[in-house]
This record gives sequence, structure tokens and C-alpha cells, in this order.
Amino acid sequence: MERRTIGAGALEVGAVGLGCMPMSWAYTGSRQRGDASLRTVHAALDAGGEAATLLDTADMYGPFTNELLIGRVLKERRGEAFVSTKCGLLVGEQHIVANGRPGYVKRACDASLRRLQTETIDLYQLHRVDPEVPVEETWGAMAELVAAGKVRALGLCAVGARAVRRTAHGRPRPGMHDTTLRLLERVQQVFPVSAVEAELSVWSPEALDALLPWCAARGVGFLAAMPLGNGFLTGTLTPGQGFEPDDLRARHPRFTAEMMAANQPLVVGLRRVAERHGATPAQIALAWTLRQGPHVVPIPGAKRARWAEENAGAAAVRLTEADLAEMAALPPALGSWD
Ligand SMILES: NC(=O)c1ccc[n+]([C@@H]2O[C@H](COP(=O)([O-])OP(=O)(O)OC[C@H]3O[C@@H](n4cnc5c(N)ncnc54)[C@H](OP(=O)(O)O)[C@@H]3O)[C@@H](O)[C@H]2O)c1
Repeated sequence: MERRTIGAGALEVGAVGLGCMPMSWAYTGSRQRGDASLRTVHAALDAGGEAATLLDTADMYGPFTNELLIGRVLKERRGEAFVSTKCGLLVGEQHIVANGRPGYVKRACDASLRRLQTETIDLYQLHRVDPEVPVEETWGAMAELVAAGKVRALGLCAVGARAVRRTAHGRPRPGMHDTTLRLLERVQQVFPVSAVEAELSVWSPEALDALLPWCAARGVGFLAAMPLGNGFLTGTLTPGQGFEPDDLRARHPRFTAEMMAANQPLVVGLRRVAERHGATPAQIALAWTLRQGPHVVPIPGAKRARWAEENAGAAAVRLTEADLAEMAALPPALGSWD
């Protein structure tokens, strides 16, 4: 697979990674597919060929079970993977809370290393900033983990879309990523940022405004989260289909029957481009993210091996300027978080 180089230390990864979250968290059927999930991770590593496949996990996915799952694979195939995990969010009985205290971050890293059955995490990301702790203190503790050889590089996840008010039709207000950009400037003073992880897809292109250019200007990698629009852009979901109560789409305004029907033109448009390339809508959605910059690595989530194989195939799709213009002319997605 094509390789991409990101961030401080010129980290090299395969162009298409694997988002491991759906195997353990926030999706219908998460937690019930142990062996199928293992096969999915193996399929993603197989598809990477000589390039290390970026596996994106977090201690909160499960919680903890996703890292345990990845650890089972890493035990056998560490050299074929580039491991990204995250700290800073604690799953409680009722709420998810941020914890950015330095002592906690260091303990969380040791626990992740044990679960992942590895001596080094390739990319350690701060999942959310703790409003009670100056981010410089949290980042300083993470930098000490690099100095200790437990972590190779540091990343920051953007604030969630729901933390930012949008206009009625789901378009972001100007400056949607202002908070993240301010945080990035602050942590850069302490230790270099190697990657930013944030939503980027055909139906959520907001990162193109300022966040992606910020990364491009500094050689910082961009991990495109939710590149398949939580599955919608693959064209395999049916308007009105149900989701389990703890599936993030059960509360997502774009996944009501009405909004899924209203956003079908996006799927139709992706399918049209896909037919010209002998590809699938999912591959076209991922090829679009790859075209947004050489520092972009999409991390499509999947818990089926055949999806991981298909998604890896997106690296071979070459979109033309005409394809891109056609996709840019697709109607903006409807459905707001407000
Ligand atoms: N930093 C953050 O705050 C944050 C937030 C969200 C996500 N993320 C990361 O980003 C990754 C990607 O986001 P995501 O997983 O939420 O959303 P996504 O990649 O946009 O979509 C995942 C969904 O698409 C389906 N899918 C994948 N490939 C497919 C294909 N080829 N054909 C049909 N369906 C396909 C999966 O189905 P199956 O489940 O049936 O396989 C899954 O339901 C996550 O796994 C996670 O690592 C990070």
C-alpha cells in the first residue's frame, strides 16, 4: 500500500488505517464480535503489505476491551502495525469525564502498554482536554512519556462536533475548530504535535477550513475520523433502520429516518463516481479524504474483515479533477447537532 509520512519524527504509515472503535464501542453489535473483530484487524494488517497499518484505538473504547483486542494481534504482528491510542477520558456509570492530571496520564499510559502487549505506543493522543487542568501540564506529562521511551509521538483529538454550535442545516459556524487551534498552539510550545485526529468526510468537511491547513503548514499528520460518515456514505444503510440504544447513531440527528432519506443524494453522487472507477461508494468516500492532502490518513471504522479489505483498496483509487468537482457540487448534508 502507498505510504504516508506524518509529523515530528517522520512517522511512516500505510495510507488507509483502521478505526477500531466499532469493534468495542458505540456501534450496533459492538462487543459481540470477538473473533470477527480479530479477523478484521488481521485483514487490515494483511492489506497494508509492507507498510505498517495505523490501528486507531483508545483506552475508553469498551472501556479497555478494544485495547485488549488489539493487544492480542500486536503480540503476534507488532512490526506490521502503527499503534495509536488515547487517554484523557474516563467512562463512569453515568457520564464520561475528562482527566488530564499528569499522574493519571502516566498511569493510563502504563495500563495501555500492558493491555496492548507492547513496549511502545507509536502515537499517544489526548482524547479530550480536561477543563480543570492547564493543557500544558497534561501535555508535559505526555512529553515525559516520549522521553521515557514509552511513546514515540503525541497527538491531539479535536473537540467533538457537539461541543460546537452549528447552524440549522448542519453547516458549521465560522471558526468551528477555533478551540482546537488555540489548544494546538499552546501544546506546540511544550512539545511537538505529530498528529491531529478529527472528523473529516464528504458530509463533514469542516476541518478543511482551518484545521487541515494548520496541520499541512506544520507537517502535522491528520487522522480523518469518521471518514465514512459513521457508515452512511457507504450506501449500505437504509433510512429508518434501527440502531441499538448505545449506538452513537441512535441519537445522531443525521440518522433519523427523515434525515437519512434527505441525505440520499450524497450516496447517489458517490455511487455515480464509484461506478466510473469500478469501486464502491465507501472507497470513493475514502479516496476523497486521501486527496485532501498527503498528510491525511483516513481511519475508517470496521468490525468486518471484508470492510477492512475493501477500505484498504481505496488507496488505489485515483480520483480525477472532474470527480472532485462533481463531489464538491453535491448538496451539503442536512441534520444538525443542535
Ligand atoms: N477522536 C475521536 O474523538 C473519535 C471520534 C469518533 C471516531 N474516532 C475514530 O475514528 C474511527 C472511524 O470513525 P467511525 O468508526 O466512528 O466511523 P466511520 O469510519 O465513518 O464508519 C464506521 C461504520 O462504517 C461501516 N463500514 C466500514 N467500512 C464499510 C464498508 N466498506 N461498507 C459498508 N460499511 C462499512 C462500519 O460497519 P461495521 O461496524 O459493520 O463494520 C461502521 O458501522 C473510529 O473507529 C475511531 O477509531 C475518533
